[in-house]
Amino acid sequence: MYNKLISKKMKMAVVGLGYVGLPLALEFAKNFSVIGYDIKQRNLKLLQNRVDPSGELSEDSFDGRDIIFTSNSEELRDASFYIIAVPTPIDKYNSPDLRPLLSATLAVANVLKPGDYVVYESTVYPGCTNEECVPLLERVSGLRVRRDFKVGYSPERINPGDSEHSLRDTMKIVSACDSESLDVVAKIYESVVTAGVHRAPDINVAEAAKIIENTQRDVNIALMNELSILFNRMNINTFDVIKAAATKWNFIPYTPGLVGGHCIGVDPYYMMHKAAELKYHPQMITSGRFVNDSMGGYIAKQTVKKLLSNDLPLLRAKVLVMGVTYKEDVYDIRNSKVIDIVRELLSYRIAVDVVDPNADSNAVEEEYGIKLMQTPDGQIKPASKYHAVIMAVPHREYLSMTESDFKEFLDPKGLVVDVRGVFKDVIKDLRYWSL
Ligand SMILES: NC(=O)c1ccc[n+]([C@@H]2O[C@H](COP(=O)([O-])OP(=O)(O)OC[C@H]3O[C@@H](n4cnc5c(N)ncnc54)[C@H](O)[C@@H]3O)[C@@H](O)[C@H]2O)c1
Repeated sequence: MYNKLISKKMKMAVVGLGYVGLPLALEFAKNFSVIGYDIKQRNLKLLQNRVDPSGELSEDSFDGRDIIFTSNSEELRDASFYIIAVPTPIDKYNSPDLRPLLSATLAVANVLKPGDYVVYESTVYPGCTNEECVPLLERVSGLRVRRDFKVGYSPERINPGDSEHSLRDTMKIVSACDSESLDVVAKIYESVVTAGVHRAPDINVAEAAKIIENTQRDVNIALMNELSILFNRMNINTFDVIKAAATKWNFIPYTPGLVGGHCIGVDPYYMMHKAAELKYHPQMITSGRFVNDSMGGYIAKQTVKKLLSNDLPLLRAKVLVMGVTYKEDVYDIRNSKVIDIVRELLSYRIAVDVVDPNADSNAVEEEYGIKLMQTPDGQIKPASKYHAVIMAVPHREYLSMTESDFKEFLDPKGLVVDVRGVFKDVIKDLRYWSL
């Protein structure tokens, strides 16, 4: 398979060209002939014009790549090695929504031939590939796994907004349905991942490894969030405590904050789903989700409390929320927990303006019904001054702000709520609160 791919006698297809699939497809397209397949027509036009719809990759990332972009599933027939990188979200009950994964699997199953490989990159609970995807591939294609076609799983570990840990520089876990196909999958990934690959003993282990990377992070952040709630009652600043504790060699400096996005805040629910099937009630994972999901409301309530204790007029209060993406320096607004802050403030009938240098205002309005404040030249010029500013997502554009910048649009008695504690040493005169 590898020799046929490298000599371009065979093609690879990447199904799902989002945050994960597109960089992967472009990386493979340096060496192989790649078919990039996605159902989102609107994005295909952009991709064909060398524009990454997520805004993460520059135009030159498309230079010299052997890739075509299509939404015609018939074109998948030309490939022999399929990589599936479609979303694995949760539904409104926080249960796994496998519809995109199964519909992508169906598109591949319809064109599967003897000798083909299908490798999944989407994050799933342990057992999902073998229990849900393989039966569908077999049923629709009439072929048998291992005997006629091979299946693998290689979880993605990219971190949007982080140029230091790229696909090439981060060791990749690979797994497959038998040892022969594991060698093939490993060799193909080794050709693009300079940091090398780790061969997991089987697909279930590789799926579990990905889920625990994010679940571990979720639980650790939840611990810091809980400590932050506790320290707040004692008037102790959590970031000061973490800085002191981090001087010990084995203390891991996790920090409190909002946990949004479609990975850390979602993947633990996949694990909880599997646990429920096994009649096990995971206490730590569930508690972590509970704490992290409550932080937006908590931050809003603390803001209201401080406004009242600073003798500011709650009923006519105006609050500016800075940053609405799910984390710093990304464009992605999906599952942003900043919205929980905004909605809680609105429930007190507080007037809220939201601003973000990265987020697409149409997308924010479509998804959350909130109009972003337009700031020509990045200048914030309210008709009257705000009573509080919540620095919810400290994008790099905000990091150079001084106290005078905050004073420009803040009432003299106003409050700076600094969710991530990044302006702690900058704010001296204004009232200040952080997690
Ligand atoms: N974004 C990350 O940081 C990250 C990191 C590691 C793992 N993951 C996992 O990788 C997977 C993909 O995530 P993402 O962030 O790239 O998602 P995304 O939403 O950015 O992109 C997914 C793409 O798949 C397309 N798609 C959906 N259904 C399809 C179908 N049936 N056929 C073809 N294309 C289809 C969508 O149109 C979209 O362009 C998820 O399981 C996610 O949990 C994401």
